Order: sequence, then C-alpha cells, then structure tokens
Amino acid sequence: MKIPISKPWFGEEEKQIIAEVIESGWVVQGPKVSAFEHKFCGYSGSSFALATSSCTTALHLALLSLGMAPGSEVVVPAFTWVATANVVEMIGAHPVFVDIDPKTYNMDVKLLEKAITPKTQAVIPVSLFGLSADMGPILDLARKHGFKVIEDAACALGSLYQGHHAGTLGDAGCFSFHPRKSITTGEGGMLITGSNAVSDVARSLRDHGASITDLSRHLGARPYLLPEFNHLGYNYRMTDLQGALGVIQMERLEQIIERRITLARRYDDALKEFSWLSPPFVPDGYRHAYQAYVCRFLPETVSLDHVAEQNAKRNALMDRLEAVGVSTRPGTHAVHMLGYYRNKYGLKPVDFPQAYLADQLTLTLPLYAQMTEQEQGYVIAALEANYEI
Ligand SMILES: Cc1ncc(COP(=O)(O)O)c(C=O)c1O
Repeated sequence: MKIPISKPWFGEEEKQIIAEVIESGWVVQGPKVSAFEHKFCGYSGSSFALATSSCTTALHLALLSLGMAPGSEVVVPAFTWVATANVVEMIGAHPVFVDIDPKTYNMDVKLLEKAITPKTQAVIPVSLFGLSADMGPILDLARKHGFKVIEDAACALGSLYQGHHAGTLGDAGCFSFHPRKSITTGEGGMLITGSNAVSDVARSLRDHGASITDLSRHLGARPYLLPEFNHLGYNYRMTDLQGALGVIQMERLEQIIERRITLARRYDDALKEFSWLSPPFVPDGYRHAYQAYVCRFLPETVSLDHVAEQNAKRNALMDRLEAVGVSTRPGTHAVHMLGYYRNKYGLKPVDFPQAYLADQLTLTLPLYAQMTEQEQGYVIAALEANYEI
C-alpha cells in the first residue's frame, strides 16, 4: 500500500469549472477570482478578501499595505515555514524570532513581550498546522505597544479561536492554497482584512500598482484606456483557472475539515497505546483544522542534550515507514537554523530551543479527507511495527 502525506480532493465539479473557464477565454484574474474572494468573505466573515499567487505574496502585500518600513522589526515565531521570515527580509525589515510553546507549536506568548522594542512595527503570529495562535494576549500587546498584527494563517483555513476564524483577528490574515493545505488551487493565497484602506493598497500592489483591475476596466465604459499606476507594484495575481478551483473547493471545505477532524480523533485514540509518540494538543476554545497531523516523537525529551541521537531515531523510523509505503514529514523547520538566517544572524539551536526540538522531533502522519479507514489502519499498524527503541 502507498499512503501519501496528503492528497487534494478534486471531483468532476473541478474538471467542469476548469473547462468552463477555458471555454470562456478569460483565464487571468477575473470573474472566478472575484467569486472565490466573495465566497471567502462569506465563510470567514471578513470584509475584504484578495486572492494572490501564494500565501507568501499575500504576506508580502500585507506588510507593504500596512506600511511596514525598511529597518523596522517584525516578530515571527522561530518554528514556521521559512516564508514567514522571508517576507520580512523582502521588505528590508529585521525578523525578530520568538520561541514556541512546545505543546501547541505556536509562538510562546509569554516570551513575546520581551522581544518587543521601540522598533517593533508588526508581529506575525502563525497558526501552525491548523491550530490558531493564542491571539488574545497577542492582540492585548498590540494595543499596548501599538504594533500591527498580520496573521500567517497559511495552514489555518477552518480553524477557530474562541469562535473566530483564524486570520480574522489581526489587521490582516493570509492563507495558502498549496496542495498540502485543506483546499487547494495548485498554488494560491488569500489576503483578508477588515480595513478598506489596506485592501485598496494591497489590491493595487497585487496588480503592478494599477488604479483599477483588468476586470473593472473591461467592464467599464472605456476598456481600451489604461489605468493610472500610483504605486510600485508587483504581479501577484491569481489566475481565473485557480479562482475557479477555489470556488468549488470552498464548497467542499466544511466537509473536508469535518473529515480531517474525524480522522485526527482516530489517530488520537490509536496513539494512546504509544508512549513514544504524542498526538497534537488542542487547548479549550480552539477548533484544530488539522492541515497536518503533527506528533511529537519521544515526547519526554525537554532538553537539547541528546537531541541528535533522538533525531537520528526519528529519521530511521521515517526511513522504515517510507520503505513500507507510508509517507511522513517533520512538522516544519526551525527557521533560525536554516542557512540564510543562521549565517546572517549567527544563530544557534540553543537560541530558540523549543523550535529546535520541534524541528528535530516532530513527525507528521498522512492525513487527507478521502483517507479510508483501511489506509489509516495501515499507517497505525506500520507505526507499531516499525518503532524500535
Ligand atoms: C506557516 C506558513 N506560512 C507561509 C507559507 C507559504 O505559503 P505559500 O506556499 O502559499 O506561499 C506556508 C506554506 O506552507 C506555511 O506553512
């Protein structure tokens, strides 16, 4: 049996709508992207949604349209996908890393205040693997110190924090539709915000700095005249082929999340038998959307003393699982240990120990909405058969 780490859920509806877009002849950002954005606002309750080419470009737009200046400091968690920090570098600002809470893998809010300086202009809390960041204390600090909050909700579509959708609590929220996410448009992202001004600037920056979109121009009275270009912009647009996929995928979203939660519960039950592997933790008041089911290998490990040895054991287990057809992955990476950041800022594992431990000892199990009980049973049996002390 071959069990991938994840798999998009596409059906006849996606094929049909893609054919419709091709027939229409309009394949760049247009009516389908607008329809996707509209559905996204309806689902999340956000006032504005702008589809982008990826979550990375959505985060870049969010930083720019919230007025982040070169030389400022932007706080990011040390355990996240590299893009969260890269976008800060891209605007010439300085990423300030904060360690994570080892239970939730999200930014440790107790450490956040110490990282804030007069230069802090924004914090990017990440809602990793589908569990929202602890937004309450972060928003309190934002009010106290006057910084902006940009939620990296790349993995968090469908996750709830005290009943609120992840991504809707900060000044902006950014989502990813990469195929490892719950819904996918191939590549793709979404920027949401409650601010008219932020949305206006981001809309223009997404499209070379143009004053109106191509669609509005074509629907207007004089479509043959080019618009005004008042900003230094980018081309971060989503295509209508992707937008069309997004429209259909949004219709499947709740079903996908429910299914992922059901499968996660089944893994949780099975993992009770394995003291060497602990399931994801879900604090009260949160809905975990399980973009990824990330476990902790040898969960009793709390210091860096023997982590190299334990990491070798985790990797050997991953090798054995791969050999029997079960794909696994580390949760994500400790960004301070990636070459660019390690070299530029002279960082060491011990600077953010919980991020480093999570990097070395997390193990993601396969999870996708169409996973059968038989497939999941195979993964659980493979874990049991392949763990060696
Ligand atoms: C936390 C986080 N932020 C940002 C991104 C970037 O998303 P994209 O690949 O859509 O640019 C990812 C992608 O996996 C992610 O996990």
